[in-house]
Amino acid sequence: MEHEITLVVNGVARRARVPARRLLSDCLRHDLGLTGTHVGCEHGVCGCCTVLLDGEPVRSCLTFAVTVDGRELTTVEGLAGPEGMSPVQRAFAECHALQCGFCTPGFLCTVTALLRENPTPSDEEVLEGISGNLCRCTGYQNIVKAVHRAAELLAEEGR
Ligand code: FES
Ligand code: FES
Repeated sequence: MEHEITLVVNGVARRARVPARRLLSDCLRHDLGLTGTHVGCEHGVCGCCTVLLDGEPVRSCLTFAVTVDGRELTTVEGLAGPEGMSPVQRAFAECHALQCGFCTPGFLCTVTALLRENPTPSDEEVLEGISGNLCRCTGYQNIVKAVHRAAELLAEEGR
């Protein structure tokens, strides 16, 4: 049996017909064409599939699409504003916090939520905040630098 769901994704109301077992990650990628959300492990370990659900980071590979009917989602495609990349995105680019980029959408969503909650995190808080996201390329130093740089940019821009 299929269910008709409506989601507000990146500010736009979207509809999909999904079976009850459809994962949110598959719904975003295959039903809505938003392939910026990456799927690595598919069982909640790597954090690549992280999106923001009503502003809170969730693993879309562990979430059934039907359970978020009517809710608001932000994917990596929705982080940039009309004026271009968000401060978190710019900081990742500036600090070379990505190599292959596979993990990056999940990190960007996680860090966006982290800095909204704690605009001036300590090193320890940054490490804890990103501990649910795995990167196979970077060794994390530049990611940590990027989180601090993003905090600076957000403060400078008064966000
Ligand atoms: S794909 Fe969801 S946590 Fe790895
Ligand atoms: S940049 Fe390649 S997995 Fe993180």
